[in-house]
Amino acid sequence: MKNKILSLLKNSNEYISGEELSKKLNITRSAIWKYIKALKNEGYEIDSVTNKGYFLTNSKNAFNSEELENGLKTNIFAKETIFLKTVDSTNLEVKRKALSGAEHGLTVVSEEQTLGKGRIGKSWDSQKGVGLWFSILLKPDLAPCNIQNITLVAGLAVCKAVRSLTGCNAQIKWPNDVIIGKKKICGILTEMNAEADKINFAVVGIGINVNNEQFPIDISEKATSLYLETGSKVSRIKLLQSVLYNLENEFDEYMLTPDYVNWEEYQSLCATIGRNVKIFINNKEVTGTATGVHSTGGLLVELENGKSVLITSGEAVVQGIY
Ligand code: BTN
Repeated sequence: MKNKILSLLKNSNEYISGEELSKKLNITRSAIWKYIKALKNEGYEIDSVTNKGYFLTNSKNAFNSEELENGLKTNIFAKETIFLKTVDSTNLEVKRKALSGAEHGLTVVSEEQTLGKGRIGKSWDSQKGVGLWFSILLKPDLAPCNIQNITLVAGLAVCKAVRSLTGCNAQIKWPNDVIIGKKKICGILTEMNAEADKINFAVVGIGINVNNEQFPIDISEKATSLYLETGSKVSRIKLLQSVLYNLENEFDEYMLTPDYVNWEEYQSLCATIGRNVKIFINNKEVTGTATGVHSTGGLLVELENGKSVLITSGEAVVQGIY
């Protein structure tokens, strides 16, 4: 019923009275009012004027499956989508759905997370209504050793989507943070359920700071949002559509040749390359220069003694970035 009211409002160039809506849909005027309130809660801006009725003035802040579908260019990703008001973590929700049989491509989005998870046991600040907090279920026919590359592919997709939608000079901080300048706008947490030689499913969780006006004090030096960078509010739905489109393209390309990620493009967008990095080898801190990304997804670092090493996991502290 809510969608029927929405569609009538969308197709009208003038105010529609409560009476007209109630007659057309055969429900009471107070029921109409309740649905209008629910639509306003979803971000639709609806003008209500006594004796005139209702008029939809703006849909650009609406955040729901209908708006996502409208303009989504993917073939498989997010064909099934769940939008939640709140959840512990979208990664946890997708894992629960996967264990009860959900399909490849399922996407769970939430307005807020009460237990947003970051990498290496950290938490992820997931304020209500300002960011894009979502996870996608993948069931690739791959061995577990390929999981790191899926994460890199996701970083590349987010970076491209942000650049094309906002014009910001977004870059990747290896392996998969997306940054603008020295600060982080996106983190990616990929988790998997696997056997020794086969991924049963992977969950790619993406958090993008979109319209955040401020951050908690402990991360305010390191984090930024698209709003803070551009000075204008960005449509979360348009960004989600673009990330999903880029993610599906990059993922399809990766699945054709899992040994070859689009490294050229990745490297051209990777802010880590060419910078001094600090890494830990056998618990010892060593420094070097990041020279490139290896076909396995690892970071190539030339140490001060001239030796080259391949960093496959863990954090590299990059000079000049948070
Ligand atoms: C990181 O940089 O540490 C990774 C952050 C990943 C955050 C996203 S938000 C959506 C998804 N759900 C979670 O609980 N975490 C990821």
